[in-house]
Amino acid sequence: MAPSRFFREACFIGGEWLPAGADFIKVDNPATGRTVGRVPKLGRNEAHTAIDAASGAFPAWRAATADERGAYCHAFHDALMDNQAALAELLTIEMGKPLAEAKAEIAYGAAFFKWFAEEARRVYGDIIPAPSANKRIIVTKEPVGVVGAITPWNFPNAMIARKAAAALASGCAIVCKPASQTPFSALAFGVIAEEIGLPKGVLNIITGSAEAIADAFCQHPALRKITFTGSTETGKLLAAKAMAGMKRVSMELGGNAPFIVFDDADLDAAIEGAIASKFRNAGQTCVCANRIYVQSGVYESFAEKMSDRMRALKVGDGLDAGVDQGPLIDEAALRKVEAHIEDATQNGAQLVTGGRRHDKGGTFFEPTLLRDVTSAMAIASEETFGPVAPLFRFDTEQEAIAMANDTEYGLAAYFYTENLARAWRVMEALEYGMVAVNEGIISTPAAPFGGVKQSGFGREGSKYGLDDYLNIKYGLIGGLGK
Ligand code: SIN
Repeated sequence: MAPSRFFREACFIGGEWLPAGADFIKVDNPATGRTVGRVPKLGRNEAHTAIDAASGAFPAWRAATADERGAYCHAFHDALMDNQAALAELLTIEMGKPLAEAKAEIAYGAAFFKWFAEEARRVYGDIIPAPSANKRIIVTKEPVGVVGAITPWNFPNAMIARKAAAALASGCAIVCKPASQTPFSALAFGVIAEEIGLPKGVLNIITGSAEAIADAFCQHPALRKITFTGSTETGKLLAAKAMAGMKRVSMELGGNAPFIVFDDADLDAAIEGAIASKFRNAGQTCVCANRIYVQSGVYESFAEKMSDRMRALKVGDGLDAGVDQGPLIDEAALRKVEAHIEDATQNGAQLVTGGRRHDKGGTFFEPTLLRDVTSAMAIASEETFGPVAPLFRFDTEQEAIAMANDTEYGLAAYFYTENLARAWRVMEALEYGMVAVNEGIISTPAAPFGGVKQSGFGREGSKYGLDDYLNIKYGLIGGLGK
């Protein structure tokens, strides 16, 4: 493809482009193995420069009215949607997901800008009844300041959009550090920022050493908040360092989503939900169904329908027409998928379909269905992050709830039932930040995205999404007479 104007092999700091020099990161297309390009490998010093740039831009940005900031967010939304095709193509080339999913991701990312453009004008305060007649208590909300965002490769556009839109709308300036596998979709935000005339320094994108940049985020006094999406393991290390610098922190971490199908479910709807949840992004999302629990009465028919549906999934280069599943991100991802399948089959699970590296080679893997999976297998407790659907059997509602909650994670959970009382009961009993009933896709800018337990804290999107970027200030006015 001819590179679009969004393709930049340079970082975006203080409104200026800093090209890749001798120290760079090479980015490969996971579908073809071909090099897409190279980006600067920046470290601590450049991260400090970016934080300084954001810090310099912050006073004027926070002083802008909510409408003014909202207008820039609307402009971001429009630019993303006006260029959806080009941005989606760039995303597919560096990340591998099918083009239709990449387009959906651009729309998902753009929707956060629209959402928060509108939320910006609803940052209300409070007046609290004071304990004495001559006093008044006032609560206002103020932007936290400069935000450092560290984002993953699985949603190279939307995970930045979800953070940057909330930061910008609330009056914060931001420095984003995207995953090294997918920097180009991130750098495209710099191009858009320039084109819509966003004040210099309000949004900065830096690529490079994750450790050095994270350390700079944790140590620089002007950086006030760190927002991270990624693994629980990395999140814990980052949170510990961030605490040493007393930074506010939001952590959107790993998941191990249960997907429960009760006997009284609409089975066809449950199959479609399971396919949507499991095979979105080839199973590489933190909200993907990781454990599929099916009640005994429908177990056999669910397994049969699921395998028919999965056999029809087309695997290939995300740029090719009709592809449902692209490659996995890298060799390590393939090895984890293989290890989970091997552990399960060695311990008694049956392979129904798939189970091997795909004939296409590279990092392509067959959509895989396992049945007779049990809680003793690794796949029950670890996030697979790949296209493996493991079927567990259960008999009672209590058993399903206990199995679903038997994990250190608590991000998303799904279940299918046509019984309203059961829907309420189970939704309340599941220890998760997000629960979907009779739906396989849960994510939308209108809803609060986030987890409990080892899946982290903080909420992104919805009316709650700005709270993580705002400090509460208590004002006391006294001396008002008797
Ligand atoms: C993620 O996998 O980290 C996010 C998925 C989503 O927003 O739906």
